[in-house]
Amino acid sequence: MAVLEIRDLHVTVETDAGTTPILNGVTLTVRTGETHAIMGPNGSGKSTLAYTIAGHPKYTVTSGTITLDGEDVLAMAVDERARAGLFLAMQYPVEIPGVTVTNFLRTAKTAIDGEAPAIRAWTKDVKEAMRNLRMDPKFAQRNVNEGFSGGEKKRHEILQLEVLRPQIAVLDETDSGLDVDALKIVSEGVNRAKEATGLGVLLITHYTRILRYIQPDFVHVMVAGRIAEEGGPELAARLEDEGYDRYVTGVDEPAAAVEA
Ligand SMILES: Nc1ncnc2c1ncn2[C@@H]1O[C@H](COP(=O)(O)OP(=O)(O)O)[C@@H](O)[C@H]1O
Ligand SMILES: [Mg+2]
Repeated sequence: MAVLEIRDLHVTVETDAGTTPILNGVTLTVRTGETHAIMGPNGSGKSTLAYTIAGHPKYTVTSGTITLDGEDVLAMAVDERARAGLFLAMQYPVEIPGVTVTNFLRTAKTAIDGEAPAIRAWTKDVKEAMRNLRMDPKFAQRNVNEGFSGGEKKRHEILQLEVLRPQIAVLDETDSGLDVDALKIVSEGVNRAKEATGLGVLLITHYTRILRYIQPDFVHVMVAGRIAEEGGPELAARLEDEGYDRYVTGVDEPAAAVEA
């Protein structure tokens, strides 16, 4: 049983205009087996939350806490967070020239487990995960994300999720840029991971479409760096009909734009 607890989190980032507050008091708890959808308009701070959980150095936590099973996540280095069981699928996965998918996965698995995986079982695991995600076996020998299409990058993120077996996964817009077939394949991968390991999921998305395939237990709406509303799956259905307008008007717009 794992519990990720985020309490009154405030985060700033350095921009040309100086220190800018992005998250203004986010509180959220994700437990083993639970799926939480975080929805919200562009620029509301969803990716900032994901990066802060993962430990991206650009984001400064000015107050609040993040703990995993009571352990202080903010005191951990990025690799320690991964070893503790946290996983981030990035909105924009990065290319790693010169590192093949095979080597990358094996190195990550070894770092997370503290020992190299037994070669036969590991090779079988990776092959099976790739087959399930309809990834051509040739991808194993390609450099990570280099020349991958948007959809291929997202499948590679879910491949990592399936073979690294984290406790809590943050999936940042894993649905963006996917056609319906790819969306189904990727969602099936997440659901397999949920069934196999009781994964807790923080599913960040702008659109409700992926929630037809990955059922959320809780839905949180993020606006201007805060959770503006929370509910169950019915809240997602409402957002599908109404969009984010009623949250955003007068909150997210710069004053000048509202007056104009
Ligand atoms: N590294 C950064 N440098 C400058 N501004 C940033 C950075 N990261 C986020 N921001 C700003 O913070 C706000 C929230 O961004 P983000 O967390 O990416 O939102 P979302 O993922 O909800 O679209 C935006 O206004 C964005 O421009
Ligand atoms: Mg984002």
